[in-house]
Amino acid sequence: MTVVKVAILGFGTVGEGVYRTIQSHAEELESALGKKVEVAAVLIKNKQRERNIHKEVLVTTDFEEILRLPKLDIVIEAIVNREPTFTILQKAIERGCHIITANKEMFAHHGKQLIELAEQNNVSVGFEATVAGGIPVIQTLRQLLKVNRVQQIQGILNGTSNFILTEMRDKKWSFAEALLQAQKNGYAEADPTNDVEGFDAFYKTMILSRIAFGEEPNWQEVEREGITSITSELIGAAEKLGLRFKHLASISKEGSQIKGTVKPVLVGNENPFYHVEGVENAVSLHSDIVGRITLQGPGAGMFPTASAVIEDLVYVSQNDAIKRSFKSTASAAVEQSKVQPKEFWLVTGLAKTYSNPSITWIDEVSKGVFVIKASKKDLEKLVKQQETIFYFSILGEYEPAIASTEEKVSAL
Ligand SMILES: NC(=O)c1ccc[n+]([C@@H]2O[C@H](COP(=O)([O-])OP(=O)(O)OC[C@H]3O[C@@H](n4cnc5c(N)ncnc54)[C@H](OP(=O)(O)O)[C@@H]3O)[C@@H](O)[C@H]2O)c1
Repeated sequence: MTVVKVAILGFGTVGEGVYRTIQSHAEELESALGKKVEVAAVLIKNKQRERNIHKEVLVTTDFEEILRLPKLDIVIEAIVNREPTFTILQKAIERGCHIITANKEMFAHHGKQLIELAEQNNVSVGFEATVAGGIPVIQTLRQLLKVNRVQQIQGILNGTSNFILTEMRDKKWSFAEALLQAQKNGYAEADPTNDVEGFDAFYKTMILSRIAFGEEPNWQEVEREGITSITSELIGAAEKLGLRFKHLASISKEGSQIKGTVKPVLVGNENPFYHVEGVENAVSLHSDIVGRITLQGPGAGMFPTASAVIEDLVYVSQNDAIKRSFKSTASAAVEQSKVQPKEFWLVTGLAKTYSNPSITWIDEVSKGVFVIKASKKDLEKLVKQQETIFYFSILGEYEPAIASTEEKVSAL
């Protein structure tokens, strides 16, 4: 029986999870592939660290040593940062290896180049683990895109920020207290910027855009906003209205334009994201035949992420001829409406005396926190004049619990 020889780059949470899963699920892998899977080498940075790796596996800090192995079929990358990863993966492809990566930051920046290089070298690229950890969103999209036209993808793609928002609401904690807990639990890095400012979700959104629509929006034009402006007061006010804050990534095609946003929004009980709590992730795919499908599950962690990598291992091994990755089929553009609809917004920092015919006052939820109805354009105009305003979109069918708008206006 032939053997699939694998190198794992990185032996941290993901790398070790993949190594252990290859051992624990050897039989399943063998029956799926008709071949044994063997880890031939592991790349690490710190040679002094004790690791539980069989002694016949080459453990090295030098990728060139791995490249010199007489047989190498698949390189699985679970390192951090864009470099040296990108360079290493290019070398692996040129050596004729399929590659699998969990590294979203690197892949959002260099995925296109890696896919092109892989095509030239007749090998495959797996990147399921780059988006939403254990949730098989890339495979589901690939399957859907065979006939369905995807119109929009929305998702809670960062478990750390979702955990912080959940804890702030549940425990009535401040942002700083919830962040500290996330760090204690090992969910947040010492520097949490990537998670709480939405960069991590942004990279994942760009990867999804490429697979769904075959291209990405201009990165500079994507509205990216983190969760640091959300206070416990705002969370309390939202709760009074039966709403929850969720940090939502969204990508859609409007006309010929791809539109992406990563920002906090408010959702009600009827919205599938309302119930996505703690470190869980969820992705909702809207397409023309099936409608809306929502997948929910663990967005990170040793074994959920290893699961995504192992599924890719099977996928790339079975796709020896090229047909893959960023080749989206049809995608359906959502009709671009000329008239901007009026939406409901939760706003804070707006002077009570403010009056503007294009903005309808709906409710003062708590001191200084209002619900208004306005078009996004009008609201943005207002924000330019009054820089202290924070505003959050209320998604879905929000029904204000008030008698009439006129009564409220006179009361304010
Ligand atoms: N953790 C998750 O749940 C998760 C989920 C999805 C995707 N990801 C992505 O997966 C990747 C790995 O994450 P992780 O959580 O496993 O990270 P981690 O626990 O910090 O492990 C990183 C590993 O990479 C090794 N490494 C770092 N720089 C290296 C270099 N220049 N050369 C060789 N080895 C190097 C480290 O070696 P030493 O052990 O010697 O220090 C370590 O073993 C990241 O890109 C992350 O964004 C993680």
